Amino acid sequence: RHFFRDQRLLAGKKVLITAGGTVERIDPVRYLTNDSSGKMGFAIAETARSMGAQVTLVAAKTSVPAPGGVELVRVQSAQEMLNAVIERLADSDIVIKAAAVADYRPVETAVRKIKKNDEEINVRLVKNPDILQTVGRMKTTQYVVGFAAETERIDEHAMDKLQRKNCDLLVANDVTLEGAGFGTDTNLVRFYDRQGLVEALPLMSKHGVARQLLTLIAERIQTKEG
Ligand code: CTP
Ligand code: CA
Repeated sequence: RHFFRDQRLLAGKKVLITAGGTVERIDPVRYLTNDSSGKMGFAIAETARSMGAQVTLVAAKTSVPAPGGVELVRVQSAQEMLNAVIERLADSDIVIKAAAVADYRPVETAVRKIKKNDEEINVRLVKNPDILQTVGRMKTTQYVVGFAAETERIDEHAMDKLQRKNCDLLVANDVTLEGAGFGTDTNLVRFYDRQGLVEALPLMSKHGVARQLLTLIAERIQTKEG
C-alpha cells in the first residue's frame, strides 16, 4: 500500500520542466550553445510522470531522446524558451528549470551565411533574459525550483541565486567534480531552500537525483497545502 502511494506522490500535479542547452543563432548554419545533454531534465520529467504528474517538457538542444508520456515542446533560443515557459506558467503547479540557458546571444542573427571575407570578425553578444528570475517574479502559487552549475564556492553562489531568483528550492552541482558535470549519467548535488542547505546527496544516477528531488518537492507542497 505504501509502495503504491509513494509511486503516485505527484498525482494530479502539473509539472513544467525545462531541459537541454539553448541554441543562439549567429547565422543560418552557426550557433552558440553549451555542453548540456538534457539528461538531468529528462530524468526529472520521466520520474515526475512515473509519480503521477502531468508533465510538460520544454526542451532545447539535447543529446539524448526525450522521454515518452510527456507533452514535449521543442525550442531553440532562450527567448523562445522564455515564451514557452511564460505561456504555461499559470497552468503549472511546479516549475523545474534544469535547462542550461545561454547567458548571452548574438546581438543580430545574419539572414545569410556569413562569408569568410575578412581576416577578423566580431560577434557582439547581448545578455539573454533570465527565465528563472522572470518566473520567480511572476509566480503566484507555483513551487519553483532552480539549478546552479558551479565551479567554486557552491553554497554561497547557490544561496545567492536562490534569493535573487526567488526560488523555493535550488539544486546546485559542482561541475568540477568527477561524475557531476555535463553529459554524465550521474550527478552530485545539494538542495537548498530559504533557510540554507537542506541535503547533500552522494554521487548517484541522474534518475536517483530526480527521485530524491521530486520526493522532497512533493513533501514540501503537501505541507504547504496542509
Ligand atoms: N537561468 C535562466 N535564464 C538564464 C540563465 C539561467 O532561467 N538566462 C536559470 C537556469 O536554468 C538555472 C539557473 O537559472 O536554473 C541558474 O543558472 P546559472 O547559469 O547557474 O546562473 P546564472 O544566473 O546564469 O549565473 P552565472 O552563469 O553567472 O553563474
Ligand atoms: Ca549562466
